[in-house]
Amino acid sequence: MIETRGIDQKRRIILALDVDNREKAEEWVHRLKVHVGCFKVGLQLFTKEGPELVRSVRARGGRVFLDLKFHDIPNTVARACESAAALGVDFLTVHALGGKAMLRAGVEALASTATRMRLQRPRLLAVTVLTSHDARSLRGEVGLRLRPEAEVLRLAALAKASGCDGVVCSPMEVAAIRKACGPGFLVVTPGVRPAGAPKGDQKRTLTAGQAIARGSDFLVVGRPITGAADPVAAVEEIAADMARAAAPAARRVGAVRGAKGVRA
Ligand code: C5P
Repeated sequence: MIETRGIDQKRRIILALDVDNREKAEEWVHRLKVHVGCFKVGLQLFTKEGPELVRSVRARGGRVFLDLKFHDIPNTVARACESAAALGVDFLTVHALGGKAMLRAGVEALASTATRMRLQRPRLLAVTVLTSHDARSLRGEVGLRLRPEAEVLRLAALAKASGCDGVVCSPMEVAAIRKACGPGFLVVTPGVRPAGAPKGDQKRTLTAGQAIARGSDFLVVGRPITGAADPVAAVEEIAADMARAAAPAARRVGAVRGAKGVRA
């Protein structure tokens, strides 16, 4: 476990590389690698540019949050996790709905690959319920019977019991997950907006300070930084907001187990 007191708040920011090609992604890494903790590579960019893009971010000194949300049979997910671990990513996502055997297979594959290749073990984060679902679609289409909030908590507990390092969740769910899963479980939240900033397509947002106060360990932030006239100043403002909220949060000891993106 790593002590989180005194942490540099900027290292808690994961910049979403929501761009459509490698050149633009590399430009953001070049501009912000000393200002943020990590870069999120999602389905769009990965599908277009592939593993080479991940290698390129790493070669430029950026850490990688590979957000591919694996959901398949355990053996397939294990093999995909091995490939991701070999790329040297810091974080990787899977769907908690894949179930315990799939989650465990992912956890074990990451650990064994990292040991074999003498790499840092990527942290495995589970996505609980996609925020694009509401109660109606969750029950009527997916067939989950509980309220979305209750499903989120149930799946977070499943992820924890299966050995995952944490979850990705909406800022609104952070406090309940933190309470249910304890201080050693990573909580990563998108949907962060500085007070008064445009929300874009995000509806249920919190400020960075609010997310930290509720127990987030890392914040995924895109447009509030990439759309700012001065992105570095935007990072500094977000980090200052986090720092103001961090005093109570920093008393949570050991919220991050070995995540290299976090440096005291
Ligand atoms: O630009 P913005 O700060 O809204 O970007 C947030 C990032 O987090 C995007 O990459 C988005 O896909 C991702 N995300 C989200 N809400 C979720 C899960 C992921 O906004 N529930």
